[in-house]
Amino acid sequence: MARLDPHSYNDSTQPETETLDWRARVDFKTQRLHAEVTHTLKEASAGPLDLDTRDLEIRDVVDAAGRPLPYILSPSEPILGSRLRIELPVGLRQFTVRYRTAPHASALQWLTPPQTAGGQHPFLYSQCQAIHARSVVPLQDTPRIRIRYTAALRIPKALKAVMAASFLRREEHGVEAEEHYEMPQPVPPYLLAFAVGSLAPKELGPRSRVWAEPELLEEAAEEFSGVDDMLRAAESLFGPYDWERFDLLTMPPSFPYGGMENPRLTFLTPTLITGDKSLVNVVAHELAHSWTGNLVTNASAEHFWLNEGFTVFAERRILEALAGPEVSALHGALGRRALDSALQHFRAHPQLTSLRTHLAGVDPDEAFSQIPYEKGYLLLRAMEDAAGRPAFDEFLRRYLATYRFRALTTEEFVAFAEKELPGVLTKVDAEAYLHRPGVPPGAPSPRSLRLETLDALRGKVPTPEQAKDWTPAEWQLYLESLPQQTPRDVFQQLDARFGLTQSRNSEVLVAWLVSALRAGWAPAVARTETFLGEVGRMKYLKPLYGVLSASHEHRSLARALFKKHGERYHPIARQGVELILSRA
Ligand code: BES
Ligand code: ZN
Repeated sequence: MARLDPHSYNDSTQPETETLDWRARVDFKTQRLHAEVTHTLKEASAGPLDLDTRDLEIRDVVDAAGRPLPYILSPSEPILGSRLRIELPVGLRQFTVRYRTAPHASALQWLTPPQTAGGQHPFLYSQCQAIHARSVVPLQDTPRIRIRYTAALRIPKALKAVMAASFLRREEHGVEAEEHYEMPQPVPPYLLAFAVGSLAPKELGPRSRVWAEPELLEEAAEEFSGVDDMLRAAESLFGPYDWERFDLLTMPPSFPYGGMENPRLTFLTPTLITGDKSLVNVVAHELAHSWTGNLVTNASAEHFWLNEGFTVFAERRILEALAGPEVSALHGALGRRALDSALQHFRAHPQLTSLRTHLAGVDPDEAFSQIPYEKGYLLLRAMEDAAGRPAFDEFLRRYLATYRFRALTTEEFVAFAEKELPGVLTKVDAEAYLHRPGVPPGAPSPRSLRLETLDALRGKVPTPEQAKDWTPAEWQLYLESLPQQTPRDVFQQLDARFGLTQSRNSEVLVAWLVSALRAGWAPAVARTETFLGEVGRMKYLKPLYGVLSASHEHRSLARALFKKHGERYHPIARQGVELILSRA
């Protein structure tokens, strides 16, 4: 037996699935998928085959002729879920599992009509990264393995199903519709994704359209109208785009992430819609994953930095190409602040602050932080500085060409970098980034004129003149740099002058609310309460619930708000907030 991924029952000595054919009926009444999936293996082989499942009710497992196959569904383990072991008879290459999902499936969020923008129709979506695909489909849920798939979703006729795959056709049968999709490129299982709801498309360019509830469509299209320029900038940096289309899906506000790089159909939080395109770096980030993550994939959550560190690096290169080095330096500075606060947060778990982690017995959702993103970014920046940009760009292209449609480990990355850029890893002390806690002293630090101006104003209230052309990123940096002991009247003056409590930019708003709450500035409480009832993005829930529950005065409010709104968060976000409240 060889278990190469601590988060999967997959045994590397067993055959791998080559393709999946998935059929599911979406039942909003019972909040279940009634489904069956046919696995076709890469090769026929007799003996046990282990699949990952979580909270699936298995009806039966049958061969291609419909004859039952023996199987055992083991009791559920805390992080992994239940192993489904199927006994394969000699010569078998194909089998079908018939099952239904649980209403609380960890990848799925079922929204009632009042939880949507239009208020008329229900909505369902999936979020499978890191290890939630198993709550939707029984499969080998490890990114080491890639699968192609077809899918057919049966839905109420008034709704539209979208998938991170290529659309084939829609058929209508009575009150239902069936939408057929196909994913011709092999993808790791965590990239399986779909949504069902009242959705309409608008074209953004030759390779992109945006999907949203009709009520949000125009605003979304306006916000994301630059996507084609972004695609072309990314291609000139990283080579041809391999996924044919780059469509966007505007999610309901409870979506737990800023964005999710589902291939061909990136999922985006509606909090990016600010009216001024100030948060489109998230689109650049998800687009960059088309190369780093979706094409070249981390072999397990222990190597997550290979996905996210590379992607933050690529995101900032796209930003630099489109908006110039000052803007990408500001984002680098924001990243550094996020890194420092994550290191502070994980100070009791230094082993989770190196890039290469060891996660046996650790839930990847709990290990999640900005560290793989921003410490990974710093390592790659250090390598770029040491090698020089032309050589590093060449290295990146060879890396992508070598590992495309494959997964790799940190150790393989190190071997590749030593061969391709001899001496560079030693020069930047890569060992310290990869295997030791904290940030190495020589790490690159972003510099720019605008940053120096901001530094000079730290803790002071800027005049309207001084702040008149600040971008939201500069506001965020300024607010995040406010000293811990800033007196309340500073918050009063800032709000009177700049109306921060009314900010439409959620990054600025949350930076504002967190620092104001920390200082005990009372008017921040009401806005926090409404915000926590509207938005389910974990990046905001965690600091806001965190700062509320850290104060004696507001701890019971935090509990009451979670009681009121928790039902409306995605299961992953709910779990994240529960953890914060339980530790308070
Ligand atoms: N792939 C991640 C989101 C994710 C990570 C989902 C781990 C589940 C498990 C996505 O690409 C991401 O990093 N999103 C960021 C965007 C930001 C870094 C620009 C987010 O959601 O904030
Ligand atoms: Zn990412």
